[in-house]
Amino acid sequence: MTKLALRPTECQIGWRAVGCEDVPVDLDAFRWLLSEPGQRLLEAAGAAGAAGGSELAAQSALRRTASPEHVAAALTQAELRRRAVAKFGDLAGRMYFTPEGLEQATRLPVAAHRAARVQAASAATVVDLGCGIGGDLVAFARAGATCVGVDLDPLRVEVARANLETLGLGGAVTVADATAIDTAPFDVAYADPARRTGKGRTFDVDDWTPPWSFVESLLARDSCVKLAPGLPHALVPEGVEAEWVSDHREVKEAVLWSGRLATTRRRATVLGDGGLATLTDEDDPGAPTGPVGEFLYEPDGAVIRAGLVTAVASGVDGHLLDEHIAYVTSGASFRSPFARGYRVLEEVPFREKPLRAALRERRIGRLTIKKRGVSVVPDELRKRLALRGDEESTLVLTRVDGKGTAFLVEPF
Ligand SMILES: C[S@@+](CC[C@H](N)C(=O)[O-])C[C@H]1O[C@@H](n2cnc3c(N)ncnc32)[C@H](O)[C@@H]1O
Repeated sequence: MTKLALRPTECQIGWRAVGCEDVPVDLDAFRWLLSEPGQRLLEAAGAAGAAGGSELAAQSALRRTASPEHVAAALTQAELRRRAVAKFGDLAGRMYFTPEGLEQATRLPVAAHRAARVQAASAATVVDLGCGIGGDLVAFARAGATCVGVDLDPLRVEVARANLETLGLGGAVTVADATAIDTAPFDVAYADPARRTGKGRTFDVDDWTPPWSFVESLLARDSCVKLAPGLPHALVPEGVEAEWVSDHREVKEAVLWSGRLATTRRRATVLGDGGLATLTDEDDPGAPTGPVGEFLYEPDGAVIRAGLVTAVASGVDGHLLDEHIAYVTSGASFRSPFARGYRVLEEVPFREKPLRAALRERRIGRLTIKKRGVSVVPDELRKRLALRGDEESTLVLTRVDGKGTAFLVEPF
């Protein structure tokens, strides 16, 4: 059964606490929330949460006008709206969620980027095959597409429908098995298979629902499929584009684009406060390796997953330190959305004992440790170094030409 409400006993003592345990509630409680008295209760539950104060008092006040089930459903929804701000920003306060549906939903900026790509391809109709609570569906509709969403879970269907409606968007949502849908009438078929089983996240493509065989069948037409960032390159069929997307430096997803939606082979798209930047394998002439220069660049995770580190090297007139390690170096300083830049201050010993002596000599008491291509556990190393002093620095541990090397750097 789909989970909706928080366990009432825990809600009473801390319904605003992160990680409140979620318990199943039937679909009727959610439907009731959409009614006029339900909306009033939801508003009161939201206001009580926003005002702070005693939750017990808020609960008692709410219970004067509604049943315990309805109060629990309203408090849960109010709590989920607060949690959802991280993904949906201002829209969260008007939307509806289930705990798992929210967890699985695509965050708004990422979904909006996808929807903008679909719109740029002049696709007017989209079928969302497993729409959940409608994170992507809402973005497609906001971008102007005519959307149909389907999901096996009746509660999520109800929630997705309510989300379209509350945001004033058109579209239809229905309970159906995605694998039995004729997608031919739609310009684009979109799927975001669930990648969790009862035991948690699954990395086995045959455990996804719908499974990889279904994804492959979609890729034979104009489609877009959201997958986990760990997607192996070898799984990407010929003629299909794989795009890795990060938001504020966290890699969120790999997306496969097929048919006329595929515009390159590999792409890294970086979203953040500065907007959007995108890099493809066509920007990648390759890059040599060589010694560390005045500047060091740490490519964004989407770039690394997409295998485009050498494209970043070329973009900063630089090279790699090692062909298997995702550090780029250059004699020139560039600001790039695709990499964080550091000025290299000096090389220090790689071996632990002389390294400790060098750090003590420089009175470095606080140390950020970055490492690539070497087997070091930063927290354990930091403890063993037993640093003393008022200075702060960043240490990079890596391999150059196969040899363990350490540098002190500062971000620029
Ligand atoms: C990862 S979630 C989708 C999240 C959605 N893209 C969003 O942003 O809110 C996957 C959804 O696929 C649904 N699902 C799994 N197998 C399905 C099938 N065979 N037919 C329809 N829906 C299915 C699940 O119920 C779940 O809601």
